[in-house]
Amino acid sequence: MVYSRIAGTGSFLPEKVLTNADLEKMVDTSDAWIQERTGIRERRIVADGETTTDLAAGALENALAAAGRSASDLDLIIVATCTPDSLFPSTAVRLQRRFGISTLPGLDLNAACSGFIYGLSIADNMIRAGSNRCIAVIGAERMSTILDWNDRGTCVLFGDGAGAVILEAAETQGVISTHIHADGKHEDLLYHDMAQNAVIMQGNEVFKVAVRTLERIVDQTLDANGLEKTAVDWLIPHQANLRIMLATARRLGLAEDRVIVTVDTHGNTSAASIPLALDHGVRSGAIQRGETLLMESFGAGFTWGSALVKY
Ligand code: UT7
Repeated sequence: MVYSRIAGTGSFLPEKVLTNADLEKMVDTSDAWIQERTGIRERRIVADGETTTDLAAGALENALAAAGRSASDLDLIIVATCTPDSLFPSTAVRLQRRFGISTLPGLDLNAACSGFIYGLSIADNMIRAGSNRCIAVIGAERMSTILDWNDRGTCVLFGDGAGAVILEAAETQGVISTHIHADGKHEDLLYHDMAQNAVIMQGNEVFKVAVRTLERIVDQTLDANGLEKTAVDWLIPHQANLRIMLATARRLGLAEDRVIVTVDTHGNTSAASIPLALDHGVRSGAIQRGETLLMESFGAGFTWGSALVKY
């Protein structure tokens, strides 16, 4: 029996910090409102000319180092992003060139904020099927390039960054199960308008569906594995809103200090948010080998999903 396991994690953030105080000078908002409603204090924003590929490359380099691997060990690159540098060639192929590796397949995947969980699910299934042995799954976003910076309802929420994992074939279980879903009927509640190049969101409506859907996916994930809530050591949620994250933790009966939180300093980095949070949890020493991690996401589409992983 072949399983997949996370051999290493990495992340990369742009240097430029945009604080809530900075945003107070740009739109009619306040640090108090943003913190109270979202938990966000600051976020990172790309510099002029800094690309999604740059962010993804930084995260991949750090993940490879953590896994003790080189780029030539990879047999597939999956980049989850809804903000690629161009529609084609893909970010994955740009990375291939950047790392001087050729012939291995690479693809970009767009499932909005659920992109990383979708990528992890595909990679896990390919390794279990025996077709691949070492896959980079990266979430990389420049959300700052698709925001209307005059819309206080959205521009305060998002940030830029990238996170990555190296997923390897293993004889013992790493990824326990993944669960991915989509339902297009709510597309109007959260979408990118191409003509305006802006994120359009009815935040309050998205919030309600997100909380309900994430409760269901948590239950589904545990039921699929015949596990009790107490089996989960760490919740690594999509980092959109601290209130949503803590609602899921309450559902699991998990204490707040078992939730990896980066939304305060990263904002919502869409597909990058979970691998960024995972890497933060690992590098801070909180997450230990052998612990059980529950990752969950909810995003535009709507798309949602989860991954239960023995780290
Ligand atoms: O990652 C993909 C999935 N996305 C999500 O999960 C996001 C889900 N939604 C949310 O996180 C929350 O709905 C928001 C943080 C976006 C908004 O929080 P809320 O508590 O739902 O606020 P609201 O939209 O109901 O707005 C409340 C008030 C409104 O004013 P009135 O109508 O009560 O006078 C808004 O106009 O807050 C106002 N408002 C703001 N005030 C200050 C909206 N944005 C701002 C702002 N600063 N930036």
